[in-house]
Amino acid sequence: MDDIIVKKSGTVTLKRIVDGRDGALCIMNALQEIPFEIKRVYYINNLDPYSSIRGKHAHRKLRQVIFCINGSFTLSLDDGFTKQELLMREDNVGVILDPMLWHTMHDFSNGCVLLVAASDYYQEADYIRNYDEFLTLAREK
Ligand code: TYD
Repeated sequence: MDDIIVKKSGTVTLKRIVDGRDGALCIMNALQEIPFEIKRVYYINNLDPYSSIRGKHAHRKLRQVIFCINGSFTLSLDDGFTKQELLMREDNVGVILDPMLWHTMHDFSNGCVLLVAASDYYQEADYIRNYDEFLTLAREK
């Protein structure tokens, strides 16, 4: 994983226990590797390789950590001033998506599975889905 240069982000690394032929086990603990109490976990699968696009929004208050637990994808981040693309391919390295960070997920590999830990329940009012509105809000503070 490249160094993260955008604001409102960062990485978390989970303990990964490799059991040889019996697979790998990764563990996330709230308030330990994940820097908040987890109220919701969701996962995304059945993506169309290299044509599906997800995200394209920012959140007002929600904190999240996103993982690629199988395959790979590209995570594009934009804090309103700086943009960055990260190749997500390590199942135990998550990227923090703090409030006011525009994020887009794309270029999914075959069999890609995303998992997200979130600090709160789903609330549509917390989403900023208009990029111009995001830029205005991100740059006014
Ligand atoms: P969205 O968060 O926009 O997906 P992504 O960022 O992965 O592209 O959500 C897609 C749809 O699913 C939207 O209509 C809201 C709904 N949804 C819920 O009902 N609950 C949830 O916890 C999430 C994450 C989405």
